[in-house]
Amino acid sequence: MEKIEITGEKPLEGKTFISGSKNAALPILASCLLIDGKIELSNLPELSDIDSMLKLLHFLNVSTHKKGRKHYIESFLIKQREAPYDLVRKMRASFLVLGPLLAKYGEAKVSLPGGCAIGARPVNIHLDGLKKLGVEFVMKDGYIYGSAKKGLVGKKITLSFPSVGATENIIMAASLANGVTTIRNAAQEPEIVDLSKFLNKTGAKISGYGEKEIKIKGVKKLHSASYSIMPDRIEAGTFALAVLGCSGNVLLKNLNKDVILHLSSIFKRIKELNTIASKDFKQLRVIANSINKKPIRLKTKTYPGFPTDLQAQLTAAFTISNGESEITETIFENRFMHVQELLRMGAKIKQSGPIVKIFGQKKIFGAEVMATDLRASSSLIIAGMMAKGKTIVNRIYHLDRGYERLEQKLLACCAKIKRI
Ligand code: EPZ
Repeated sequence: MEKIEITGEKPLEGKTFISGSKNAALPILASCLLIDGKIELSNLPELSDIDSMLKLLHFLNVSTHKKGRKHYIESFLIKQREAPYDLVRKMRASFLVLGPLLAKYGEAKVSLPGGCAIGARPVNIHLDGLKKLGVEFVMKDGYIYGSAKKGLVGKKITLSFPSVGATENIIMAASLANGVTTIRNAAQEPEIVDLSKFLNKTGAKISGYGEKEIKIKGVKKLHSASYSIMPDRIEAGTFALAVLGCSGNVLLKNLNKDVILHLSSIFKRIKELNTIASKDFKQLRVIANSINKKPIRLKTKTYPGFPTDLQAQLTAAFTISNGESEITETIFENRFMHVQELLRMGAKIKQSGPIVKIFGQKKIFGAEVMATDLRASSSLIIAGMMAKGKTIVNRIYHLDRGYERLEQKLLACCAKIKRI
């Protein structure tokens, strides 16, 4: 199993190209099942989660091929509308084919995604919303069987929680429904905006995306289009927190204005992290001059608050600081798997329920550690770059799910890091 070896205590200096967003690309790929015609996608990141989605789409008779940096995708009619367990268990985002299959074919058999390292991650909000559109569900042998023989009918839906995936599944299903669907308490994440902009380019009629209330006027069919996936705000945020942890000066390239404004706003309270946007809002310079930082108190929130997907990285960065920080995870019930490993590096962290208290140290120390999930992996890499001595991060297949060649990008920023 591949590992990553890091020798720490080196500032980060250089520049890096931020890849396309995994969490925008996954729903956009799933939505190709709705579309009659050829789709051209650019800025698709090369990640194992993207490979998993492409494998599932191939199983669902979607043809995809790559030419240069562009992907061409075309969906053909399928007889078996099924997302099998062995494909869905690898990646819960596979559940995003449910809405498209129901909208296109009026039936679907999708394996329940099951939990993962960061929590139970139920799908009740997805199912409740789709039921409102006229879907009947039966659960059997770990599969969800959905059917809507009379087609989907637009309705007013209020989500009990602004679930990103549920909002995406309902948008995709409603795109081909009869009539207008309104989603209240919708998720506002930028990846929802990207999915909606993409679908509108194929002829969908979606408005209000990015707001709490989204309106989707169903159409008969969706047609070919080309689209470029938005930049990955979580990868960019991970780099910024790596600079905060190690100190340094790194230029993040291939961004856009929305991502830059979002990052500047979530980092505004961290005085030691300076962010300077380029005039064209395509690049962001992140600078941190010292590793001694004042402690922070912060809660993760749904967009536009501090993203849960950066919580583990923030925790790592504050293991070296002056004083006691407190981070509260409000989105997932068990997203502190990285804490045990950080403790082994000499960090002083106390977890009680959804809150971690971090007692800042002057130093942390390299150790052999174990990655447990995607963002925990990047948190341990940041800690390894901050630590005195050598760190080995095991099970980095977790990292490759959501970061494109991270160690090569960090190497180009003067980190002492290699895959072994
Ligand atoms: C998306 O997951 C992202 N994944 C996650 O990123 C991200 O952490 C999450 O949104 C929150 O921003 C993708 O976009 C592929 P949710 P998703 O539905 O859609 C509960 C990463 O690191 N919930 O907004 O699964 C759920 O248990 C990944 O890139 C229900 O209770 O997130 C969780 O506690 C990790 N019932 C909370 O809501 C439901 O039906 C947020 O989940 C759905 C969700």
